[in-house]
Amino acid sequence: MRISVIGCGYLGAVHAASMASLGHDVVGIDVDAEKIEALAAGRPPFYEPDLPELLAGGLASGRLRFSTDIADAAGSLVHFVAVGTPQLRTGGGADLTYVDAAFASLMPHVASGELVVGKSTVPVGTAARLAKLVEPTGAMLAWNPEFLREGYAVKDTVTPDRLVYGIADGQTASVDLLNEVYATAVSAGTPVVVTDYATAELVKVAANAFLATKISFINAMAEIAEVTGADVTQLADAIGYDVRIGRKFLNAGVGFGGGCLPKDIRAFTARAEELGRGESVAFLKEVDAINLRRRQRAVNMVVEELGGSVFRKKVAVLGLAFKPDSDDVRDSPALDVAVQLHGLGAHVVATDPEAIPNSRRLHPQLSFGTLDEALDGADAVVLLTEWKQYRALNPSSVASKVAHPILVDGRNALDADTWRAAGWTYRGLGRP
Ligand code: UGA
Repeated sequence: MRISVIGCGYLGAVHAASMASLGHDVVGIDVDAEKIEALAAGRPPFYEPDLPELLAGGLASGRLRFSTDIADAAGSLVHFVAVGTPQLRTGGGADLTYVDAAFASLMPHVASGELVVGKSTVPVGTAARLAKLVEPTGAMLAWNPEFLREGYAVKDTVTPDRLVYGIADGQTASVDLLNEVYATAVSAGTPVVVTDYATAELVKVAANAFLATKISFINAMAEIAEVTGADVTQLADAIGYDVRIGRKFLNAGVGFGGGCLPKDIRAFTARAEELGRGESVAFLKEVDAINLRRRQRAVNMVVEELGGSVFRKKVAVLGLAFKPDSDDVRDSPALDVAVQLHGLGAHVVATDPEAIPNSRRLHPQLSFGTLDEALDGADAVVLLTEWKQYRALNPSSVASKVAHPILVDGRNALDADTWRAAGWTYRGLGRP
């Protein structure tokens, strides 16, 4: 099938390459010439496992190309809109500028019988409004939210755990087209939820709100554990054995960040308030507040362990990305903690396998280096992103590099007993 993907950021680039790998003929379009040039040369503008291979395969097969000209969308049967919806500078609402611009520029190239598919995360009610723009072209609009996780983006796109199609009343032809796009997943038995626009839009934000709530729930338990001497990791294991609760997303630590969870809960709150239903999701403000408090807690722990002041102390920060297997530092708890420690006068040397360039761009005032450079002579070590190479560190060999064996494990990713046995002062969040 001929497919266009408008917006080649994280979501769009992965979607375009994945659709080509499924055998479709895909053009990815973006207004950012630099991004398009990189993608067309097979270089993803961000770190994502498996994407370079997928891009190379797609480009070599001739089934994947990239363009800055929206007119190249003409002739595709299905047009995906996958542009970003960042947080507004003023308040927590979503900025729909890119969505509106994408629809406005795409409409002149859309023909009757074609399908426009929104993938961007939007406030509920947006699809119904955009459907009015699509209607005069004779094309249809569907809303098909995306649930991919960074680090697993290709796998989540090619083999999703569910597909959600929000369609207009009676427009079953759009279901047929989407089933054709996702034929591989559909024939493998992937559940398909066919619903209305509002439900499809809400599924996306509800899923992210639930995940954020689950993380803040366990971080709230960590706060209680800290004043009672309990261990939040054991608590998480114990409640996680209950299949109704489940152990996933119950890792306490410095909390959630990234380009999705934080902005999505804020946008959801703002939209609910507009709808006069602010109280229904008022708890999300608490979820946000708990999350931000945990970053502060990690900073305070380092200060405590360094005798009340970090001024002129060398602190090794391990990890900057908002999570492992990503170079994304948007709203990253790790980067935030590093910046706060620097602000308190610490000599922070931060390291990360992938996220140093993005971190340096945002915070050039920080010092960055290799793992060894960070550890060398450090007064304290703070683990903030649980990359597997940090999980695998040998406590004795790390101890031989630092000035003082003090470790704050902001992700509860290391074995406390092993590190203590090697002479370390080990502090975890929510652990005795
Ligand atoms: C999230 C959702 O998981 C995806 O389903 C969704 O499609 C995506 O947002 C999106 O809206 O595009 P992602 O932002 O890639 O995906 O990251 P997650 O794996 O959800 O992790 C989010 C944050 O929560 C990370 O900072 C991670 O370190 C933190 N986290 C996760 C915890 O602090 N504890 C946990 O137990 C799990």
